[in-house]
Amino acid sequence: MTVPTTAPELIDHILTRFHETHRRELPGIVGLARQLEAKGTTPTLADDLDLMAQALDMHMFKEEMRLFPMMEQGGNTLIAHLIEDMQAEHLSHADVAAELERRLADLAAPAGTESEVAALRAAIGKLFDDLTLHMQLEDDVLFPMFVDRSVT
Ligand SMILES: [Fe+2]
Ligand SMILES: [Fe+2]
Repeated sequence: MTVPTTAPELIDHILTRFHETHRRELPGIVGLARQLEAKGTTPTLADDLDLMAQALDMHMFKEEMRLFPMMEQGGNTLIAHLIEDMQAEHLSHADVAAELERRLADLAAPAGTESEVAALRAAIGKLFDDLTLHMQLEDDVLFPMFVDRSVT
């Protein structure tokens, strides 16, 4: 599909394509990681995946409750500061995802867990690919629509 070009359309697209998708997928990913840990897989990932899920949820909540409504009203003088906060959080999410990816690469599958480990790898890979696209769309397309205007 083509990505919308006005801010309100872009926000709608981000909410349905990314925020809803992350929230739908994360609990299952954390649950699968926990089931695998109970079967002896190492290194452990579930607690850190859970922390990441909580941090992402809070981040998306701030966008949904504060930043996106400001954008839908055309922006204001506070928006640059809020955008900087969100960009800093994106960098932190990217660091956490990179660290989890390194540990995922070392994940050992005890006999009988191979297909579940493969499913976990695929689910996390898909989530992180989506997260990268999500943050790029905000950092490179949505946020620049407001930053320049707010510094005058
Ligand atoms: Fe977002
Ligand atoms: Fe974001």
